[in-house]
Amino acid sequence: MIKKTLKINGVERILILDKDETLAQVLREHLLLTGCKIGCGEGHCGACNVIMNGKVTRSCIYKMSRVPDNAEITTIEGVGTISDMHPIQVAWMAYGCAQCGFCSPGFIISAKVLLDNNPSPTREEVRDWFNKQRNLCRCTGYKPLIDATMAAAAVMRGEMTKEDLV
Ligand code: FES
Repeated sequence: MIKKTLKINGVERILILDKDETLAQVLREHLLLTGCKIGCGEGHCGACNVIMNGKVTRSCIYKMSRVPDNAEITTIEGVGTISDMHPIQVAWMAYGCAQCGFCSPGFIISAKVLLDNNPSPTREEVRDWFNKQRNLCRCTGYKPLIDATMAAAAVMRGEMTKEDLV
């Protein structure tokens, strides 16, 4: 067993864990943060993405023994709330990005890291980012996801409001 102190969605958590558990198991099964999804479970699809210390992280394959102590982790539950959604989440709805919805948390996490680091990406940069992150969607095709990310970026830059999106 190992002890980890982590800041998850802004809340400090002191956890006693099996070192072989994955971050996804801990988030979903111990902390009931089920927004991160297990798709492939092998690091290929990005459904399980969370942000750890500012980086997109595949929680399904990330063993707790590798998670740095005092890591700051953001799951989809920490991106926005029902009453105060993040612009990316509003754009995801407005552009019909979710059909089955299973990939949405992982895509939104990837999009957030992109826009936190590059507030004015081109469409090509958004497409390349999702390619690089290897996020997979089997329903929508990828155009709505790029449209939504571009619109969310405009909201985050203050060029339009979330209300303009809906
Ligand atoms: Fe983690 Fe597919 S579930 S990458």
